[in-house]
Amino acid sequence: MIKQAIIPLAGLGTRLLPLTSVFPKELLPMNGKPGIEYILDECIEAGIKEVICIISTKKKLIKNYFFNDNFYKKIMKKKKDNRIIKEYKKIQKYKKMIRFVYQNKPLGTGDAVLKTKSYIKDKFFLMLLPDDLIIKKNCSKAMISIHNRKKDCSVIASMKVPKKTVNRWGIFLKEKNLDEENFYIKDVIEKPEIDKAPSNNAVIGRYILPKQIFRNLKYQKKGKGGEIHITDTIRQLIIDGHKFIGHNFKGKYLDCGTMHGYIRSSKEISRI
Ligand code: G1P
Repeated sequence: MIKQAIIPLAGLGTRLLPLTSVFPKELLPMNGKPGIEYILDECIEAGIKEVICIISTKKKLIKNYFFNDNFYKKIMKKKKDNRIIKEYKKIQKYKKMIRFVYQNKPLGTGDAVLKTKSYIKDKFFLMLLPDDLIIKKNCSKAMISIHNRKKDCSVIASMKVPKKTVNRWGIFLKEKNLDEENFYIKDVIEKPEIDKAPSNNAVIGRYILPKQIFRNLKYQKKGKGGEIHITDTIRQLIIDGHKFIGHNFKGKYLDCGTMHGYIRSSKEISRI
């Protein structure tokens, strides 16, 4: 069973400036609720019991958001407001299942994952990238159920993207279809040039990864843009014979990592 999830949150959020110059992007509201809560709710509904958040000292506000007990208690003493009590209880529920680790230099997703090494207990864990919201159908839950069927396989969410945008994503090379929604992955390339992309099946930010990835991550060299990419380590695991499945999720993908995407996603979310 998959019980632990990790969420890399140390990124600088430059694509959302000026909103992120003092404020972490994951706390920006979407229809009255910070983006991070959508991600946590997806985890809870998928049966996750512990979430490890990777933050940086610059993004300590995220920790403060969940650890602000005294403030709530003072307010609740003065005011008997049911809405505040309900919100406080919700924050308490999240707080109980989250722990924080630090990545103070933004060296890439691979480096962020490595910071969680000593906390991961089971053979597999889930990773969610907070820029990618998936609504209407719980993608993590669907991926966990595929993993439960195909016990030793890792799973990554996938979506077809316009060909001219392949250089913005990790791109899969399919091996063969497993069923209508899932396929075995032969290779994955981080942000390929348009003419070198093996397909237009993109990696979306939900991954079920094996614990053994930590061994490879320790030696992972920097890739595109001088960052340590999880995609490059996954590629190595595939070469070593580890099975990875791509899952064409059913939900609706919302990009919250760019200004244009954030504005569109907020509108979309407030309609449901
Ligand atoms: C990351 C991954 C990329 C993936 C994308 C999904 O890129 O490196 O493989 O396709 O998330 O959102 P980033 O958005 O951090 O540039």
